[in-house]
Amino acid sequence: MSAPDHPKKLFIKTYGCQMNVYDSDRMADAMAEEGYVAAAGPEDADLVLLNTCHIREKASEKVFSELGRLEALRTQREAAGGPDMLIGVAGCVAQAEGEEIVRRMPGVDLVVGPQSYHHLPEMVAKASGRDRTARGAAARAAEDGRVATDFALAEKFALLPRPTREAVRARGLTAFLTVQEGCDKFCSFCVVPYTRGAEVSRPVEDVLDEARELVAAGVMELTLLGQNVNAWHGLDADGRPVGLGGLLRRLAEIPGLVRLRYTTSHPRDMDDELIAAHRDLEKLMPYLHLPVQSGSDSILKAMNRRHTRADYLRLIERIRAARPDIAMSGDFIVGFPGETEADFEATLSIVREVGYASAFCFKYSPRPGTPGAGLPDQVPEAVKAERLARLLALVGEQTQAFARASVGRTMDVLLEKKGRLSGQLGGRSPYLQAVHVAAPESLIGTIQRMEIVAAGNNSLEGKIVTDSEPKSASLVESSAV
Ligand code: 5AD
Ligand code: SF4
Repeated sequence: MSAPDHPKKLFIKTYGCQMNVYDSDRMADAMAEEGYVAAAGPEDADLVLLNTCHIREKASEKVFSELGRLEALRTQREAAGGPDMLIGVAGCVAQAEGEEIVRRMPGVDLVVGPQSYHHLPEMVAKASGRDRTARGAAARAAEDGRVATDFALAEKFALLPRPTREAVRARGLTAFLTVQEGCDKFCSFCVVPYTRGAEVSRPVEDVLDEARELVAAGVMELTLLGQNVNAWHGLDADGRPVGLGGLLRRLAEIPGLVRLRYTTSHPRDMDDELIAAHRDLEKLMPYLHLPVQSGSDSILKAMNRRHTRADYLRLIERIRAARPDIAMSGDFIVGFPGETEADFEATLSIVREVGYASAFCFKYSPRPGTPGAGLPDQVPEAVKAERLARLLALVGEQTQAFARASVGRTMDVLLEKKGRLSGQLGGRSPYLQAVHVAAPESLIGTIQRMEIVAAGNNSLEGKIVTDSEPKSASLVESSAV
């Protein structure tokens, strides 16, 4: 592309999960190759992309109100003689609603689903040359190349450019790396199998290459991403099948990479190899997000989760036998169709039985096209709200108890950035807790052994333990839970 007088600016607004955060970075990388730099906000952007989430109704409705605001901003700018602005929709709403978006919002210049991001630069080029005023609402979006929602995942990963070292550095010491995308589980409440398509795993060498590049650019902690990350599978160098545990072992060999995490997992895919990785790999952090969704067997069955309450509890026992201090995190849905008070109490009781360090709780939101949306016995909104409040109160107690139990313990904290107050740095404990500490900036990018001296609402306060060796790349936990 020919170099403009000043670089074009891109603003991406990201909704939803970490996979979208990763994808937004990859879209920024693709557009960086076309000369685009980051804009501070939509006001000074030439291209605004909304990277959207379709998981619950609220998430997807936000997109349409944001599009309305952006169109108003563009009209204002045009009236003031300012530059044009292209507006694009990416992510799961783009995939699920495709041309419907252009029908509802004819001013949208491009709609690109998660498996088509490698087409973004050419879509933007086409949109720049299109006459928006002549197009009108009746324009055939598919024919003018405004909508790309194909599923061709392998191609996407091969064709998307890697970030430059500078871009990686600017994004910080921790990075996401998508190793798996899509889902074949078809939980009856969930849109993911429809928006992200069938499960696809990236090959081992691909993942290792990307990880090595990230580490060479300064990344110290990697979080492997996948809608169903522990379903990842590949072949090792000898052509033997290998699961996520094996992949983590290979990644742990990369010098300079000091911490590994992964999310999100399904209980059915938590195999022996992966549990053993939690026992053996010092670099694999003792924190596991393993959603159960409900504690009631009849609801789990209706959700098509393919595991029982007892299966889940047995699994947690095995994981804790391998890594006794592991912090558990989960997702819960209240008010799935047919959920009785007794079913809901079974959810409360599984939360009590497991003891979560963190948990995400949602009211069931019927999603068009999923089996759950057509089930009888939908639960009234007021009942859902009341159950959510009770569940939130319980998990709130547990997360606070977990934070309080950290006080007095000594743990390794990866110092990532400046803290909110001057003279302070912020980092994460092995259990993904935010920790702040009084420390000089020169310690950013090191792991420090700290005593936790206080627990606030959202973060812990640490004090560097000075009489022990300062640590930079070892993660041994020193105190028992
Ligand atoms: N309604 C409410 N919550 C949902 N989730 C997924 N689909 C729905 C839905 N239709 C929740 C699940 C999942 C998390 C990412 O979002 O708990 O694990
Ligand atoms: Fe959705 Fe279930 Fe797949 Fe998770 S495992 S992405 S909840 S269908």
